[in-house]
Amino acid sequence: MSRALFTAAVLLGTSLSLAAPALAKTAYDGVWLFDDTPPTPGVTMIEVASKGGRIEGTVTTRWYGPVEMLNPRVEDGALRFDTRNINDRDHPTRAWSVAIEGSKAHLKGRIWESDIDVAGYRGKAKDARARAFKFAPPLPALGAPIPSKLAATPPMGWSSWNKFAEHIDDKTVRAQADAMVATGLRDAGYLYVNIDDGWQGQRDANGVLQPNAKFPDMKALTDYVHSKGLKIGIYSSQGPRTCAGYEGSYGHVAQDARTFAAWGFDYLKYDLCSGEWFYADADTVKRSYYEMGAALQATGRDMLFSLCEYGRFDVGSWGRDVGGQLWRTTGDITDDYPTMAKIGFDRNGKPEWAGPHGWNDPDMLEIGNGGMSADEYRTHMTLWAMSAAPLMMGHDLRETDAATLAMLTNRAVIAVDQDARGVQARAVRKAGTMEVWTKPLADGRVALALFNRGDAAGSLAATAADAGLASVTQVEDLWSGTKSGTLPASYTVPARGAVMVVVGG
Ligand code: GLA
Repeated sequence: MSRALFTAAVLLGTSLSLAAPALAKTAYDGVWLFDDTPPTPGVTMIEVASKGGRIEGTVTTRWYGPVEMLNPRVEDGALRFDTRNINDRDHPTRAWSVAIEGSKAHLKGRIWESDIDVAGYRGKAKDARARAFKFAPPLPALGAPIPSKLAATPPMGWSSWNKFAEHIDDKTVRAQADAMVATGLRDAGYLYVNIDDGWQGQRDANGVLQPNAKFPDMKALTDYVHSKGLKIGIYSSQGPRTCAGYEGSYGHVAQDARTFAAWGFDYLKYDLCSGEWFYADADTVKRSYYEMGAALQATGRDMLFSLCEYGRFDVGSWGRDVGGQLWRTTGDITDDYPTMAKIGFDRNGKPEWAGPHGWNDPDMLEIGNGGMSADEYRTHMTLWAMSAAPLMMGHDLRETDAATLAMLTNRAVIAVDQDARGVQARAVRKAGTMEVWTKPLADGRVALALFNRGDAAGSLAATAADAGLASVTQVEDLWSGTKSGTLPASYTVPARGAVMVVVGG
């Protein structure tokens, strides 16, 4: 569907000039986005409406908001207002000024605060590109659920974000694809090479999104990755800006889906980010995902659709219906045990939501990035595999050391993650700092994990009853590789460590 979103013409009519002594109060009506100055990408949004000669509005920055405009007025060719400054008792308000000038096609704006510039640049006003958007755009109504035959098992691959953030380029992506093959990670099942935020440039005159200079030829890049027997993913947002401040798909949803398909992508991560300015409740968030899900389907190309809205609104209960094969259940992981454990143990999504073609996504792996001990990383891998979570690596594959490689390519552990039955593990027993989780497998055996969430080694017995079996006659310890016919009297589990076994009756 097409819709005219660039409403500057409607809002402004003709050219405005900063020198004009008194702008009509309505001249600022609308929603304005100010691109923050590099190197700190981001957006400041002001929403202004004049009613009966009075101006009202709010300001949202990448740091806070929306906050109300106090005493908004037009003075000396600029919109001026104050906002409450809740963190600073000596300066309870901040003064802001906004000026917008230019033609319909090329709006320019400046936005500044009296003492602190909006994006943290102190002292001086900065020039920003101002763009007007129509608020509350029409979203399609929810249609029939979008059927998917993709992702029968949890997707596996690599994403640029955890290691490279927005500092990602064509060369690095190719190098990761090369390393995926050379290390044997591809042959262990890791297939997707995903470009996260930071690849976007500007739109051309027809609105077609272009990559930035770090990605000279997207089609050549996808061809290269495909030539390695791999698949490749890309990233966008339903908002006008991505989380790192790059161009989003707002107003260009179907067009961007066609662009991604034409470039040859196999996967789209769609991140709410600034979309939450427009879609802030369950209904609109869901419809905004449905809009892209339907657009991807309409391209006719098989592309996995990864929903990233941080687990809001019980996403797992509707993720499949909007065309998603995986949906984030949390905010971002970081490379430390407390964050990984909080996400993996407590925020990994309801097991009833997961199953073939639709997976809870507790975020990408940090294994290999160096912030956790070997035992902590073992817990990370064990938890994700037990949870039937997508296994998206997040380190520099070129620097995979032997221990990291052994952990990531443990075939038996991967087989639990990828088990065809697609059941997400549940905790069946807790004892002090210890937890026992079980995951029934397609062949009738049961994967069983013992986690020690404490800071001292502990020991615990695993039993046939834990696994829901009458008796156990085969035991395979997946991290040590040993096999036996019986469960030991107890397992010793290191601090913050894990034991993972598969048992059969
Ligand atoms: C959000 C997502 C991350 C990553 C960044 C990119 O924070 O949750 O996974 O994609 O945006 O800016």
